[in-house]
Amino acid sequence: MKPVSLIQFLIEERRAGHINAELSLLIEVVARACKRIAVATSKGALGGVLGEAGTGNIQGEAQKKLDVISNEILLEANAWGGHLAACASEEMEDPQQIPDGYPKGQHLLLFDPLDGSSNIDVNISVGTIFSVLRCPDGVTEPKAEHFLQPGTTQLAAGYVVYGPATVLVLTFGHGTHEFTLDREVGSFILSRRNIRIPGQATEFAINMSNQRHWQPPMQRYIGELLAGKTGPRGKDFNMRWVASMVADVHRIVTRGGVFYYPLDAKIEKQGGKLRIMYEANPMAFIIEQAGGAATTGRQRIMEVQPTGLHQRVPVFLGSKEEVELATRYHLEAEGAQA
Ligand code: AHG
Repeated sequence: MKPVSLIQFLIEERRAGHINAELSLLIEVVARACKRIAVATSKGALGGVLGEAGTGNIQGEAQKKLDVISNEILLEANAWGGHLAACASEEMEDPQQIPDGYPKGQHLLLFDPLDGSSNIDVNISVGTIFSVLRCPDGVTEPKAEHFLQPGTTQLAAGYVVYGPATVLVLTFGHGTHEFTLDREVGSFILSRRNIRIPGQATEFAINMSNQRHWQPPMQRYIGELLAGKTGPRGKDFNMRWVASMVADVHRIVTRGGVFYYPLDAKIEKQGGKLRIMYEANPMAFIIEQAGGAATTGRQRIMEVQPTGLHQRVPVFLGSKEEVELATRYHLEAEGAQA
């Protein structure tokens, strides 16, 4: 079969009526920026890109040099094309407006420029996550409130994993598709169309060091997985934890499994670890479009009405039956308390 490039795929999606020309251009621009981020990350110590930037982001987290570089690459690439009304980044407090003198488009772009950045210095996979929304009609200078739309309104979502290969996974709400970067040619090539995540799982991803801080339903659920064949689930489960959400999600998109970042006593006040706008919503869209499920442990992630640009939520996602079971345990526990 002849290889299908990302550009060809986008043209097909336009012809199918799934996207318009402006969204197609937006995805091309983001993909091009991510190729530049891939080059920067791959230089490692030789590019002088490792280590701390000496600055903090809005969440008070120390920024790595590559967090700052990746953010700049995405901002600069998206400033002048005329496809965006504004963008918002996990690394910036407020939305970034399109500079004066450039045309504006109808779309809002949100991104986590470099997810898993604590892994950069140890040469473990990191990634970029993005989400696209429509700018409300009549809004010319979008503010945070215009971005606060539930995940169900996303027009597109994707991530790029910078691993042994650079891989882009993308959805427009018509299936989830994977593209692999051909480094010689410089193009993303379709490598899997309509990915399906198996309903059942034997592999789970969670930061086990937080176990003692979890709420009782999570203790119960993971306890049952750990009990294996002789426990109530009657089968053994394997555990994997990269601590780069992009890499953990990509494993699920590739061979099934589940990923959990539940609420725990340490992070209860902030509502969770992962950000709804930059991480949870785009990943939920990608996972649901591949036949999986994504909840906060209480409700579907994409139905949460966001109240803040940097709001955090618990994240349960992956193989449908497992996510539904873990969610049921939480809802049952709350029902029993009520
Ligand atoms: P960051 O981009 O700030 O490094 O955050 C990474 C996120 C996510 O990618 C990962 O799943 C999680 O944080 C890791 O959390 P732990 O520190 O608990 O392992």
